[in-house]
Amino acid sequence: MLIDLEGLKLGQLGNQRALQEIAELQESTRDVLKNLRQVLIDLRGQTALEEDFAEEVRRLLARFKANTQLKVEFAVSSSWPSKIRSQAALDLYRIIEEALTNVRLHSGAHSVEVVLGQAFDHQLSIEIKDDGRGTESVTGPRKPGMGLLGMRERALILGGRLELESDVGQGTTVRAILPHEQLI
Ligand SMILES: Nc1ncnc2c1ncn2[C@@H]1O[C@H](COP(=O)(O)OP(=O)(O)OP(=O)(O)O)[C@@H](O)[C@H]1O
Ligand SMILES: [Mg+2]
Repeated sequence: MLIDLEGLKLGQLGNQRALQEIAELQESTRDVLKNLRQVLIDLRGQTALEEDFAEEVRRLLARFKANTQLKVEFAVSSSWPSKIRSQAALDLYRIIEEALTNVRLHSGAHSVEVVLGQAFDHQLSIEIKDDGRGTESVTGPRKPGMGLLGMRERALILGGRLELESDVGQGTTVRAILPHEQLI
């Protein structure tokens, strides 16, 4: 369509109004293409998340490391399930993404550690721990932003909870604790 429209322009040389309209058509065609590509990427992303969640998190961390130059460590416990229900996988992935965004924007940390692990009593845990400046706003009087609220909500939806540990100068740990059976 883009190429046909380009050809059509040649026949309209000198006709400013037609040229303008064709240019607008080309623009909206490009937008449609762009959206379609994004839908394909998102769809692919979801399947991959479901099939191999830990591997997708590893990729996310590799990109994070390349973009931030922070030291990144990643560990997966042997009890971590190999396959995760697709909606749950997406919620967990978004929790990690938001925690990393907060590390990048607010922590001033040198390193971050992410663990897909095990918690007491058949529960699974996801931990994102940084060595940054820490904050009182996580536990203190300041109203949390949308990020913390969203992470908390996603953990709740999965029947779990979100824990935050942070003190000024002591780094920050975000931990989602989730019932095993909700994830598989
Ligand atoms: N890893 C961290 N290190 C230091 N401070 C943090 C960290 N994570 C969160 N905070 C503090 O907690 C506040 C709330 O975080 P939250 O993600 O809820 O909101 P936000 O990042 O400010 O905005 P947004 O709604 O865009 O996420 C932050 O503004 C920041 O002060
Ligand atoms: Mg945030």
